[in-house]
Amino acid sequence: MTDLSSTGSLQIRDVSKLFGAFRAVNGVNLDIQKGEFLTLLGPSGSGKTTLLMMIAGFLDITEGDIALDGSSIAGVPAEKRNFGMVFQGYALFPHMSVRENIGYALSVRKRPPEEITRRVDEMLELVQLEDFADRKPGQLSGGQQQRVALARALCFAPPVLLLDEPLGALDKKLRVEVQEQLKDIHKRVGTTFIYVTHDQEEALSMSDRIVIMRDGAIEQVGTPRDLYERPATKFSASFLGKSNFIRKGEKTFALRPEKIDLRREQGGKDARSSGIIQSITYFGSMQRIIVDTHDGDEIEVDIDVWRNQEALSEGAPVDLLWQDEAAVELTDS
Ligand SMILES: Nc1ncnc2c1ncn2[C@@H]1O[C@H](COP(=O)(O)OP(=O)(O)OP(=O)(O)O)[C@@H](O)[C@H]1O
Ligand SMILES: [Mg+2]
Repeated sequence: MTDLSSTGSLQIRDVSKLFGAFRAVNGVNLDIQKGEFLTLLGPSGSGKTTLLMMIAGFLDITEGDIALDGSSIAGVPAEKRNFGMVFQGYALFPHMSVRENIGYALSVRKRPPEEITRRVDEMLELVQLEDFADRKPGQLSGGQQQRVALARALCFAPPVLLLDEPLGALDKKLRVEVQEQLKDIHKRVGTTFIYVTHDQEEALSMSDRIVIMRDGAIEQVGTPRDLYERPATKFSASFLGKSNFIRKGEKTFALRPEKIDLRREQGGKDARSSGIIQSITYFGSMQRIIVDTHDGDEIEVDIDVWRNQEALSEGAPVDLLWQDEAAVELTDS
């Protein structure tokens, strides 16, 4: 890519946003590296969009500071920050062609026409829409429109691209397709992406790091693998993936359903627990089995569909087995 900006790291320091007395964002501290794909993940109302809007400059910061490459941008208006933005419902201009939509920010900045043409051509190639340059947005599929929106946001080589649920309107299959394209584009442009979603699979498959948000604050930050393998709290363990919670003495452990094995009950030292199969649900790639343990707990187990066919049926007595390291001790037990 040409004229790639060398900037793009962000420092978020003790940032809060109050609406009246309500803290929509509460004491957020975060360092985002240049070129990182960082995802804000959290339930509805957890403050994801509010935090993104403060980074964009559309909302004032009530407390704290946000810096770009070490210099505060708290007082810089949104249009001077030069951040790219792709929001759901941040629509394309319907009367303009794909080419005009993508080049819009450069036209507004009064760049020379040759430069705009060259840059838009690069963007069309990046999002693989060379053959669609002269169409209007209404003549494109949802996924193609999202790629135009992305090209438009990246056209002026912003140091930071902010994306708020950009794929929310797409159906599952198209969504996965555009996710892959987006990830590929991220690798090629080297721009810092800050991506908001409440789709956990999307977060796991695309991000360098994920920030789990809860009630306006950061619950946990880490790589997808860190967060999935070592959730620190019940909230993290149940928001990212599914989890059983097992109490031992004073402690609580998270145990992922796919890390448990089942066999017909035979006791034995290796059995961690045993019980009766309450239900079996078929999901195509796996089956989810709920076991009522003899201790009165309910444990969910995900196993391959082709395994243990005859031993596993509703009402069957089973042993549950897992490795020591599968049970992760939580800090909020
Ligand atoms: N302008 C506003 N005035 C008052 N409260 C607001 C305002 N904007 C957001 N809020 C509140 O702040 C909280 C965080 O909202 P935000 O839009 O950041 O959530 P979100 O994590 O993006 O949720 P979603 O996944 O539903 O988009 C919510 O409780 C919301 O009602
Ligand atoms: Mg939101």
